[in-house]
Amino acid sequence: MSATAEIPPERLPGLVVETPRLILRRPVRADATRIAELANDVAVAENLSSMPHPYRLDDALAFVDNVEEGPTRWNLGLYLKDEAAAFVGMVGLMPRDGERHVLGYWIGRPYWNQGLATEAAQALCDHAFEALGAGALAATARVTNGASRRVLEKCGFQYAGQGMGPSLYHRGLVPIERFRLERSIWTSIRNWAKTAVGA
Ligand SMILES: CC(C)(COP(=O)(O)OP(=O)(O)OC[C@H]1O[C@@H](n2cnc3c(N)ncnc32)[C@H](O)[C@@H]1OP(=O)(O)O)[C@@H](O)C(=O)NCCC(=O)NCCS
Repeated sequence: MSATAEIPPERLPGLVVETPRLILRRPVRADATRIAELANDVAVAENLSSMPHPYRLDDALAFVDNVEEGPTRWNLGLYLKDEAAAFVGMVGLMPRDGERHVLGYWIGRPYWNQGLATEAAQALCDHAFEALGAGALAATARVTNGASRRVLEKCGFQYAGQGMGPSLYHRGLVPIERFRLERSIWTSIRNWAKTAVGA
């Protein structure tokens, strides 16, 4: 059980977002052991630009101590709304490479393919457009990362070209695809959802 299960969300600093299955909030030191267990996975590290590998408890503690926070920089831990409030991954939004709002995320391997990344990413996209007034969001994925591409597609992102991006794991640049979600597309998706047959 995560020790943070005992901390009521309203007593944690910063942004707290709730989705049907998740609480998104700033990670705390008590989460570091579980963060390290899930992050210490090649399948996670090789798909992120700057995650160290191996990933040790000290890395997790340093990450938690220096986590970037608001108003346009968010790194939020994802916690299941079960009794244990299990930590399952991270979602982030921050300026990078000349873009104001870049979305990123990772989920621990035991929790893949349950729709959790999509649920968290959609919630942070909504926050960016509704609360931050974003005009567009950007994201990148390695060309080999079909699951991430699918998450972005389910959020409404559109392909915006190819390039090379940094990979700490590969100690260099790797081929990536760029994606964008324009405000107009996001608005349409939201309106379609409201007017869907049976809604
Ligand atoms: C990418 C990642 C975040 C997805 O998390 P997740 O919670 O499993 O994502 P979701 O369940 O919301 O959606 C995954 C989708 O990809 C699909 N998928 C899974 N593996 C796939 C693959 N190899 N190729 C194509 N699609 C794939 C799933 O079927 C699902 O689509 P569906 O809902 O249409 O069936 C997770 O795999 C991860 O953390 N990977 C390592 C880190 C990473 O890649 N981060 C993103 C960096 S850009």
